[in-house]
Amino acid sequence: MTAASICYDRIGELVTCVPELGDGSPLGVRTDAAVVVEDGVVVWVGDAGRAPATDHRVEVGPRCVLPGFVDSHSHVVFGGDRSAEFAARMAGEPYEAGGIRSTMAATRAADTAQLAERATALVQEMRRQGTGVVEIKSGYGGDVDTERRCLEVAAGLTEETTYLGAHVVPAAFDGDVDAYVSLVTGGMLEVCAPLARWVDVFVEEGAFDADQAREVLTAGMAVGLGARVHANQLRYGPGVQLACELGAASADHCTHLTREDVHALADAGTVATLVPGADFSTRSPVYPDARALIDAGATVAVATDCNPGTSFTTSMPFAIALAVRECGLTPSEAVWAATRGGAVALRRHDVGHLGVGAAAWLTVLDAPNHLHLAYRPGVPLAGPLAPPDA
Ligand code: NIG
Ligand code: FE
Repeated sequence: MTAASICYDRIGELVTCVPELGDGSPLGVRTDAAVVVEDGVVVWVGDAGRAPATDHRVEVGPRCVLPGFVDSHSHVVFGGDRSAEFAARMAGEPYEAGGIRSTMAATRAADTAQLAERATALVQEMRRQGTGVVEIKSGYGGDVDTERRCLEVAAGLTEETTYLGAHVVPAAFDGDVDAYVSLVTGGMLEVCAPLARWVDVFVEEGAFDADQAREVLTAGMAVGLGARVHANQLRYGPGVQLACELGAASADHCTHLTREDVHALADAGTVATLVPGADFSTRSPVYPDARALIDAGATVAVATDCNPGTSFTTSMPFAIALAVRECGLTPSEAVWAATRGGAVALRRHDVGHLGVGAAAWLTVLDAPNHLHLAYRPGVPLAGPLAPPDA
């Protein structure tokens, strides 16, 4: 039996993220376009009214269609609530990495069904706002059983699962970082690695230093996980250089970068994943300098970092708007960073674009073009393009 084919026709503006399918720009924009999807895959892209015969046809009209956002950094598996901590910050308290421990306690206390229910609701919230693929980290377990449970929940929601056993040292270790690193690189890794594609570590004062982080990442890489790093979030530090040294797919946050860090990212091909929702919600005095990164030739991605402590948003459009207003990306660069950039950060070739063979994550904007994503902040323009029988 052949799968039903659908033609999305008369699309006002189609953002393909394949330069040669459109105007030659990185976004590969074409107007008055059509896309054919069969069996969940894009099989044809071209001019409106020119598509081959299909089982169904949807007239999209004067709206913008783009690849589903690729949210390459989230922590949606957790228990508890930190709204009071947010309110205190907005009243002037600084953000400290230690707040993570209160979420660890609440996550351990939650049963797996509760964790799954919350994480599923957050992923659904993402999807309603146009996100296709999402990466999900563990990291609020801090013990073998809870890290495993968190990764099981994550694996039920995405292929892009990340083992972040090294988020902070749990209170039970009473500051004995070496003992915790031994667990993270030993028994915990053994249990968690089969459930994960990636290994991540929070390199920061109050979390892990460069040597400890190197141990964590190399242990994960030795069992086949790809590396990604929480780097240079709260202050300058060694995280970015370590990510580049180890050939990590991505260094995430990058709020405090030296010129050397910027050039190391460009030279290593490690993606700089900006999560400006975290800078917003921690009331960071500075945002990442995306302009410096792009000018140096680095690849930039934008993600939500959805988590209860520093960035409790599921909205890629919000991240795009902040990346434009605060990080110096143009609206078009920010849309690329939130789609193709996220895919590069996850080393995925099948998502983040709408070329032939891509997974058919199609997002539609209730707007005539992609510039409206940053131009109309806070307005729910983006959503999934529904199939004809929805
Ligand atoms: O990406 N920086 C480390 N981890 C999270 C924050 C987690 C928390 O505060 O709960 C982040 O911002
Ligand atoms: Fe994070």
